[in-house]
Amino acid sequence: MKPVRKAVFPVGGMGTRFLPATKSMPKEMLPVVDKPLIQYAVEEARAAGIEEIIFVTGRGKAAIENHFDHSYELEDMLAKKNKTEILDQLINLLPNEGSISYTRQQEALGLGHAIYCAKNIVGNEPFAVLLADDLVNSSTPCLKQMIDLYNEKGGNVVAIEEVPREKTSSYGILDVAGRDGKVIEVKGLVEKPDPKDAPSNFSIIGRYILQPEVFSHLEKKVIGAGGEIQLTDAMAQMLGHIPFHGLLFDGERFDCGDKTGFILANIAFAMAREDMRDGIKDYLAKNKDRL
Ligand code: UTP
Repeated sequence: MKPVRKAVFPVGGMGTRFLPATKSMPKEMLPVVDKPLIQYAVEEARAAGIEEIIFVTGRGKAAIENHFDHSYELEDMLAKKNKTEILDQLINLLPNEGSISYTRQQEALGLGHAIYCAKNIVGNEPFAVLLADDLVNSSTPCLKQMIDLYNEKGGNVVAIEEVPREKTSSYGILDVAGRDGKVIEVKGLVEKPDPKDAPSNFSIIGRYILQPEVFSHLEKKVIGAGGEIQLTDAMAQMLGHIPFHGLLFDGERFDCGDKTGFILANIAFAMAREDMRDGIKDYLAKNKDRL
């Protein structure tokens, strides 16, 4: 079984739900407290042992490339002012030479299409996909939990969580063949089903480990839900041929592609910071009549 060494970060979407904030700034650069979403995702991948990072970008996404590069003027200024702690943080976020690649999705035709754009860089080996909009707060990185399961079972692995039944039409939902604790054996996948047709309330979140066979399905460029080329549809084609598991990961996930989820993530991460907790608690206490 080949190890998972590479991770793909699709960042080519238009981020329409955050307009006008995302008119000239990538959605993935929106900060939770003081760190952009994409940095949380890259740090999670590195903490899970990922060696190569692949960004699928698009027009207007140059800020992401700049974020993972030196900013000499800034570094020089911080060094002269002896601001060593933040300087070290900026240097530590730089990937090793040659371990980061960029390819460009020329048209935002959907998540499946974005992953297809990484085909040649990924090659013939299993790989991870992380959507930066899904921010997971956990003691063991979510992707590490998934890689541990992959090393045991192989095949495809998706991170899942339970959602209220009335919300299934917003998510990719699993059809379940069996369950062993936190591990679900998958027999079917449905993109955004109506609650009355949903085969379960187990929803896929933005963390995947995929076998390279997925590219031969994505290549067909089948248009799915919402008029987009859907990753879920290509994954569904592999069912029955390749083992497929869902992992009910340990941790709290915030859907930062949605405005409410993004604000909740900011509150949760700020509350975990000693320098901010009291200020937020005071504000909420003073405004409890508005709750
Ligand atoms: P979303 O479905 O949240 O779409 O993409 P979006 O365009 O980013 O945002 P909204 O819905 O218009 O507000 C989930 C992830 O897939 C990437 C996005 O960048 C995001 O990380 N994506 C989506 C692509 O890379 N390309 C696409 O064509 C679509």
